[in-house]
Amino acid sequence: MEIHAPIADLRSALRNRGRVAFVPTMGNLHAGHISLMRQARAHADTVVASIFVNRLQFGPGEDFDKYPRTFQADCEKLEAAGVDVLFAPTEADLYPEPQQYMLEPPEIQGLLEGEFRPGHFRGVATVVLKLFNCVQPQAALFGKKDYQQLMVIRNMVRQLALPIEVVGGETVRAEDGLALSSRNGYLSSAERAEAPRLRREISRICDALRHGERDYARLEREAAASLDSHGWATDYVAVRQQADLLPPATPDAPLVVVAASRLGATRLIDNQEV
Ligand code: PAJ
Repeated sequence: MEIHAPIADLRSALRNRGRVAFVPTMGNLHAGHISLMRQARAHADTVVASIFVNRLQFGPGEDFDKYPRTFQADCEKLEAAGVDVLFAPTEADLYPEPQQYMLEPPEIQGLLEGEFRPGHFRGVATVVLKLFNCVQPQAALFGKKDYQQLMVIRNMVRQLALPIEVVGGETVRAEDGLALSSRNGYLSSAERAEAPRLRREISRICDALRHGERDYARLEREAAASLDSHGWATDYVAVRQQADLLPPATPDAPLVVVAASRLGATRLIDNQEV
């Protein structure tokens, strides 16, 4: 696997490499990331991954400084997954001067995650657009684990007419159902044992919806109350339309249940399509 940091080096390495599929990450790679790398292979001649912990998408009180950085282990996993090129810019490579031109997503950036992480999706959209400009891929893969992020990127690509196929990958889970996440490493062993409850509450709502339940507010309230009674501090549990993440407007709209809750100091998110 080739590793490049300066943008110019990456660009010259990617000349004449055929169709390129790109998987951006912030590192600390787990089986969820690796499944995207493997799916990328089916879309391209050359698979490019990136590792960059993007300061712009972290809020003031968030975990930018303590975000796990495990570069050596990540390289071994990427190599084993058959990734051809790793783009691993330093902050000076990607932001040699303060990033003042920012990409401002529309109303979706104020919903759900955006309500609790102001500025987060502006930071994500800006870095992903910049990474796309560096790598110039024909396809890019993102996990459904970050459902709203995938939607922001899809909408950005469509509205800006970027010549990139955006592919969503299914969420990879631990055996007990917990969605894999770099942030799971922050959990104590007691918290780790409790963590699968988030997925269980989401699944319970999906079952009720499949059985025709339409009192969304009650389902959301009960799930949040159940989490909070087990020591969580829930930001939201919400039944939303898959198409735009707004509250369901028609009884037959395809739905997704999204949730974010804090267990001790760790904030976990998950979702499930109905
Ligand atoms: P990161 O959290 O490292 O995630 C990189 C990619 O892996 C994202 O597309 C994410 O949705 C996906 N992913 C994470 N956990 C997953 C799981 N359990 N199953 C399947 N896919 C999973 O998301 C980011 O980085 C950043 O916001 C980024 C897009 C790189 C921009 O900085």
